[in-house]
Amino acid sequence: MPTTKALAVKAKDKAIEDLIYFDNVGGCRKAKEELKKLSLFIKNPEISSLYGANPPRGILLYGSPGNGKTLLAKALANECDAYFMDVKCSDIGSMWVNETANNLRDKFETAKRMTKRSGTCIMYFDEFDSIAASRQIRYDTREDNKVVATLNTYLDGLKSRENIYVVASTNLLKILDSAIVRPGRFDIIIKVPPPDYNDKIEIFKIHLNNFRKKSIKKPFSKNINYAILAKESEGFSGSDIAEVVRRSCWQKTCNAYDALVKNNLSVEELVSNSSSIIMQDILDQLEMYKLERKKQERTVGFGELLKKNKQQKSEE
Ligand SMILES: Nc1ncnc2c1ncn2[C@@H]1O[C@H](COP(=O)(O)OP(=O)(O)OP(=O)(O)O)[C@@H](O)[C@H]1O
Ligand SMILES: [Mg+2]
Repeated sequence: MPTTKALAVKAKDKAIEDLIYFDNVGGCRKAKEELKKLSLFIKNPEISSLYGANPPRGILLYGSPGNGKTLLAKALANECDAYFMDVKCSDIGSMWVNETANNLRDKFETAKRMTKRSGTCIMYFDEFDSIAASRQIRYDTREDNKVVATLNTYLDGLKSRENIYVVASTNLLKILDSAIVRPGRFDIIIKVPPPDYNDKIEIFKIHLNNFRKKSIKKPFSKNINYAILAKESEGFSGSDIAEVVRRSCWQKTCNAYDALVKNNLSVEELVSNSSSIIMQDILDQLEMYKLERKKQERTVGFGELLKKNKQQKSEE
């Protein structure tokens, strides 16, 4: 982990949510292990040169949505102080002939410029399947052949290109073009699976701790039973857990706002009267979220939460 000073310097030009390190990613043990190793090689090129080995330049992360693929890519970039280039594949894909291949070229040219500035560039290709799907299952084969060929050329060129690493992620590994994912282009292919029981404990801890910063006046209570939270969140992804934690904060904020209006409190009075977020608050949100998942509905918003809370109370 970097020093507080280093973090402060970085915070100047990066949003807080981008300040992700491996410690901020729960579970994903295998992927984290591989990427930690890679970050050591990136930071210490003399280790790789010991036997003349080239560190892997293409890393493919696959798995179901919301389990930390993007977080891992950001963590890799931050751990080795690299420039993180977020390439949204759905944005560079175009219906016009040649445009996707040209967009791709532009991205690699930008990455080259960024390595001159930052030393290392991590190009992160989100939704990689939208540009790298197998040519056999595509409609517009001529244009797609060009995109895949351009991609292959750039991936092949990475070995000689100084310090550009490609991290790609997909939910659909099986549909990727086999030429793109062959060894030499993607040397590391790792599954980022949904969290197991222990992973969920880790992820809850990470997200609750995010709301225990000094600047937060009413941080989460320390008295949290993580084992129960992990057990009650069967089938949850990392992003589901993050959402439950976020909702617990929102709900308490809505309640506080309600109290402020109803009792005509000053902000100072509100702060001293408000209680911390406790285990039961999280369990309530967890139950509500599970119900919503079952109904396949999602309604988050200040008003909605207030309404729901009142409705729930009157039903009790
Ligand atoms: N392993 C994890 N540890 C901590 N937080 C997580 C983890 N996985 C997901 N989250 C939370 O969920 C959010 C979404 O995760 P992320 O963007 O990394 O998912 P993803 O695997 O890239 O999903 P997609 O396939 O949809 O792109 C994160 O910003 C974080 O708040
Ligand atoms: Mg992602």
